[in-house]
Amino acid sequence: MTQVTDPVSNSTGSALQMRCIQCGALSPEAKQDMRCPVCGDLLEIIYPEWAATKKASGLDAAALTALWKGRRTSRAAADQSGVWRFRELLPPIAESEIITLREGNTPLYEMPICGRIVGVPQLFAKHQGMNPTGSFKDTGMTAAATFAKQAGFRWVACASTGNTSASMAAYAARGGMHSLVLLPEGKITWSKLSQALDYGSLTCQLKTDFDGCLRILTEVVRRMPVYLLNSVNPYRLEGQKTAAIELLEQFAWQPPDHIIVPGGNLGNSSALGKAVLELKELGIIPRLPRISIIQAEGANPLYRSMKENGGKSLTPVHAETLATAIRIGNPASWKKAVRVLEATGGAVEQVSEVEIALAKAEIGAEGIGCEPASAVTFAGLKKLVKQGFVKPQESVALLLTGNLLKDPDFVLKFHRGELFSGTPEEKAAEALAPRRRTPMVLDATPDAVIRALEAAEKAAQI
Ligand code: F0G
Repeated sequence: MTQVTDPVSNSTGSALQMRCIQCGALSPEAKQDMRCPVCGDLLEIIYPEWAATKKASGLDAAALTALWKGRRTSRAAADQSGVWRFRELLPPIAESEIITLREGNTPLYEMPICGRIVGVPQLFAKHQGMNPTGSFKDTGMTAAATFAKQAGFRWVACASTGNTSASMAAYAARGGMHSLVLLPEGKITWSKLSQALDYGSLTCQLKTDFDGCLRILTEVVRRMPVYLLNSVNPYRLEGQKTAAIELLEQFAWQPPDHIIVPGGNLGNSSALGKAVLELKELGIIPRLPRISIIQAEGANPLYRSMKENGGKSLTPVHAETLATAIRIGNPASWKKAVRVLEATGGAVEQVSEVEIALAKAEIGAEGIGCEPASAVTFAGLKKLVKQGFVKPQESVALLLTGNLLKDPDFVLKFHRGELFSGTPEEKAAEALAPRRRTPMVLDATPDAVIRALEAAEKAAQI
């Protein structure tokens, strides 16, 4: 059943509606659990008359891109945000209402060393870990927190593997709201946990996994006046779209052949896909980049679904991976992600724990730190090149989602050779030895340091 309601008008003349991704029902706003009131599936924000209204107001592709570029030198908060700079493609809001930490504006790096390793010279990384709380979540959170506040909520909440909670806690604090965080006990890094605490969240560790936390929170928000800020919230994905918009601007609106992203709850891949489809529809980019999604072998429900039934159904898995950010077995946005794979012609791959650790060390050797979940992109690229899906002459952008400092334990264990000790991967992990730099304890003398320096120099010449 499709129920049609009046769209909500916006200040720039566009109109937005919430549309169910399954039954197509339209509604002016989302319920507390962010699900379709008719069939219970996920909602997405659409702008039905967009192209027409943008043209009527003179905002064609050239005018829009010029407007966004011009804002780079502005002193206004909304313009300094790498999200709200693109506000013509976002839900309407008065500038004074925006909660921003000047998110976005993240660098696009050339990756010559990794490019040589994988045999793809045109390799780039967009580092979303350079956001204010150290992960890509900030681009979505500025949008969703802003609309939570506008809707009058005192409390916002999320279930998280750590980054969403860190981001939500910061934006709630900036917006003068309280925040509730549900985390899988013992399964998130202490850096992420400490961020939520520092920003003042009510932080609850539950004896379950991420999927269990999200299930419980969905029940809580149905019973309490608490605004759900997980990526099932369609406003989050509108904000996260801007990572792709900014990336394509950095490519002068000539898309790379491939964009490669990690897959966890699958909100991010859904958002990036929505962005490229909208930019194509508006005539801002001439063609679509292929968006490919990489999962950890131990948390691979989308990979299995695509291999087993072409993405028609998804069977949840019990997730286990050292890349704790993507330790998710029942991803909420899997249907949206399947649509992105189909619409852009992307691939889905899985990578092992040792492959993730090696890829992370290789990215690190490039002078670019990221967290393990981000490194799946480079590990996955190696496989996609071997399969011939990515060709050596093509251009590739990896999306690095989190900062190195999100998980320093992983780095220390890697370099001390402890990451895989006593695990089935111990043998395979011997391949990582050349990348290890064990921290040394020396006598406090210049001679001891010079001996270490000379030994390192000798080893480098071999
Ligand atoms: N990379 C990092 C660093 C993440 O924190 C996440 C998700 C992902 C990739 C996967 O993105 O879920 O949109 O497919 N972290 C969530 C959290 C689940 O709670 O912080 P996704």
